Amino acid sequence: MTLPIESMNTLRERRNKIIHNISPEKLEKLHARGSLSARERVNALFVEGSFQELGMHAHHNAVSFGMAGRELPTDGVITGTGYVGSLQVAAFSQDFQVLAGTMGKMQARKIVRLMRHALRVGVPMVAFKDSGGARIQEGVDALSGYGDVFYYNVMLSGVVPQIAVIVGPCAGGAAYSPALMDFVIMTRHNAYMFLTGPEVIKAVTGHSATMDEVGSAEMHASVSGNVHFVAEDDQHAIALVKSLLSYLPSNNTEDPPHDLSMPIDEVADPGMIDLVPGDSSEPLDMQLVIRRLVDRGELLEVHANFARNVIIGFARISGAVVGVVANQPMVMAGALDMNAADKIARFVRMCNVFNIPLLTLVDVPGFLPGVEQERGGIIRHGAKMLHAFASCTVPKLTVILRKAYGGSYLAMCSQEMRADMVYAWPSAEIAVMGAEAAVKILYRKELEQATDRRAKAAELTKQYRDEFASPYAAASNFYITDVIDPADTRWMLALALRKTLGKRELRPAKKHGNMPL
Ligand code: HXC
Repeated sequence: MTLPIESMNTLRERRNKIIHNISPEKLEKLHARGSLSARERVNALFVEGSFQELGMHAHHNAVSFGMAGRELPTDGVITGTGYVGSLQVAAFSQDFQVLAGTMGKMQARKIVRLMRHALRVGVPMVAFKDSGGARIQEGVDALSGYGDVFYYNVMLSGVVPQIAVIVGPCAGGAAYSPALMDFVIMTRHNAYMFLTGPEVIKAVTGHSATMDEVGSAEMHASVSGNVHFVAEDDQHAIALVKSLLSYLPSNNTEDPPHDLSMPIDEVADPGMIDLVPGDSSEPLDMQLVIRRLVDRGELLEVHANFARNVIIGFARISGAVVGVVANQPMVMAGALDMNAADKIARFVRMCNVFNIPLLTLVDVPGFLPGVEQERGGIIRHGAKMLHAFASCTVPKLTVILRKAYGGSYLAMCSQEMRADMVYAWPSAEIAVMGAEAAVKILYRKELEQATDRRAKAAELTKQYRDEFASPYAAASNFYITDVIDPADTRWMLALALRKTLGKRELRPAKKHGNMPL
């Protein structure tokens, strides 16, 4: 007994109608602006033939408020699982062609079902966001649907990586779902995200604002900090997702994809020394240092345009995945301000939950002084860094390249934050404050009485540096593991990293610490 031909035809027809729900003209328009259709996004993410859709035939039975008889294929969201390389990934893709990809009860049920799969099986979650927000006709059902998605975003947080890709509108409360995820990628030209748009802002406050001001990718990546990566178009966004996944484990019980087959040779890199300016007041370019330290010079920089006075990102050192945290002295002398502290603290915690070792590169003159910073709560923000580094139990390696002053020395993963190894270059200066400032405070009278004030100041500054701020002073008290030749940094780190990868550290049981937020 075989199935009647008609029923096979019905199946094919139904599938075709759902899969090809966009006209060639519309598709061409999307492509022309650098966009893909919802289904093309899923197909571009996954290895061909690996996608399995969940709930393709599920949709809201539209009967009310102008929706009667209206077809809502997939209910405006494609959900399913597939492979990215050899990694299973769960993904959903909102379909703007279906009532602007709006969220109703069924769309939420489909998304939540997929999130529960990701949670149970322990696989990363990728969300393509392209939606007009809550489906107005579904009222509180739509709101409740969002609530369920938010709840599962929180349940998945710290268990599996969650990546949001904003490729269209993401307005109103809908924006809280990406905000609850680990990484947000946004396309430069076709996406916007805000809680209240220009029209509402105008109506409520009388203030005129442009869409770019309140919701563009550029703004979120550089000012609000809501976005980690700006993609040029949809294809670029998908390439960024794949790149991110290549550094992350599938879930919190696994290690990240280290490649430990690479041997570690004791090869010095004399070029590293050339990067250190002779004059300590001249800035060092930390980007160049990082590129020399990591495999093939490849750093996947996260939050590259936000708080550029610090650098965070993923790299490998002799095959081992690391999360890099560094000051960038080329911007604001690498000082820590509120945004830099937030950027670092969140990244450190993300690395910790996904078992990614941390490498901290220090050249920091301090926390940024200023009325704005104090009134804005730099104490609270800076404390996040201390909390994050102290509470994280992954391998922690620190290199002090030059300045490490005061509270910022401690906050940049010092030994006291339980760094496993702290290396210092001979150019390191570890002290309560910079030599010039310290000399002014300590030797005010001597300087006033000196015949050649400048010469006296220079002499005292040198003396202070040698006696108090030298890395050997810190090393003699065993606050530093070793003072190393900059040329040896890469292989020393590679070796130390291999030796600490097996680190296991137990902390007192508690629900969670009370991080300053
Ligand atoms: C139901 C919607 C809709 C919505 C759009 N549509 N948004 N239907 N609920 N929220 C429908 C339109 O009526 C239209 O139907 C079709 O989708 C395509 O929309 P267009 O407006 O023609 O498209 P476009 O010109 O590209 O504009 C897209 C848009 C705009 C910018 C998204 O539609 C818009 O501003 N929509 C409202 C967005 C919004 O305010 N959402 C609520 C946010 S508050 P037809 O029949 O013509 O095909 C929110 C609360 C969430 O989401 C709270 C969670 C906690």
